[in-house]
Amino acid sequence: MPPSLPARVVLGCGNFGGIGSAPEFFGRGESPEEAFAIMDAAWEAGITWFDTADAYGGGRSETAIGEWIRARRPDGLRITTKTFNPMGTGEDHGLAPARVRRQLDSSLRRLGVERVDLYLAHEWDPDVPVAEVAGVLEELRAAGKIGAYGLSNVDGPQLREALAAGSFAAVQNSYSLLDREAEREVLPLCAEHGLWFQAFSPLAGGWLTGKYRRDVHPQEGSRMAMRPEPYAHYCNEHVFDALEELERRGEPATLAIAWLLADPNVSVVVGPRRPEHLKPALDALAAPLSAEDRDALAALF
Ligand SMILES: NC(=O)c1ccc[n+]([C@@H]2O[C@H](COP(=O)([O-])OP(=O)(O)OC[C@H]3O[C@@H](n4cnc5c(N)ncnc54)[C@H](OP(=O)(O)O)[C@@H]3O)[C@@H](O)[C@H]2O)c1
Repeated sequence: MPPSLPARVVLGCGNFGGIGSAPEFFGRGESPEEAFAIMDAAWEAGITWFDTADAYGGGRSETAIGEWIRARRPDGLRITTKTFNPMGTGEDHGLAPARVRRQLDSSLRRLGVERVDLYLAHEWDPDVPVAEVAGVLEELRAAGKIGAYGLSNVDGPQLREALAAGSFAAVQNSYSLLDREAEREVLPLCAEHGLWFQAFSPLAGGWLTGKYRRDVHPQEGSRMAMRPEPYAHYCNEHVFDALEELERRGEPATLAIAWLLADPNVSVVVGPRRPEHLKPALDALAAPLSAEDRDALAALF
């Protein structure tokens, strides 16, 4: 991880005003008041890097962060935002340079800041050559509107192509005990090229908290009740067996985050829905796992 990008735990703000970028949930996530309570608790705990995206909650996530910044004037707050997904049903998407320029300006307006520290291409755009994407991101960096730029949701070949085209500094991909794909190519490439790797969905959308049980219907309002598609494949005996064993070894969410943090090349983007949800990440930071314990947990899954 480059020394200029230091956070091990980043506050994910994808639950503010929606569930990520899915238009059907815009306006149904954490309210501005709930978001304020989470940001206050994170800031007080020393979490100083916040992660959002233009499309989270259809702009509501960035707006809530902007209001919090105006109210609290936090000294030293650092921000990641992203673009790719449509801001609403039927609106445009992608990484065409004119769109990226427009979307960054709209993000800066919602956040009420002149610059973000990290700007990510939220998805790979098959319709825009990555050299063009790098070109516009480089232009925005030279203009002082972003500190650094990176990619999200990329595979190994895409990352290699991007590295040949521009100075991408970070990758944000799904990574957890239940989703090990990043280990194959992306994590090694990040380590080799000195890119900051950020793991999103560190609890596999809540699965690694142990909240989902064999033969028990998901609780109302939970991720599995509201937006189960990305996680439906976890619903099997092998996963339930591993989760039960994880619980026998300790508090599962804490172990799952400690497992990620035990790799010095990995930072974690947590997704709390209330202030208490920060506890596993804070406990994990305070009690690092040994390499031996890390391997033992990996072997469960
Ligand atoms: N780049 C991308 O494409 C991308 C994609 C996804 C996320 N992200 C970023 O990464 C962040 C985290 O992702 P994620 O929300 O999927 O992370 P996650 O931690 O895997 O899942 C979050 C969900 O887990 C549950 N949860 C979290 N902490 C808990 C705790 N301590 N105890 C009990 N349940 C807990 C909540 O579930 P319930 O809702 O069921 O209560 C919450 O909505 C997002 O906010 C966003 O900033 C980026």
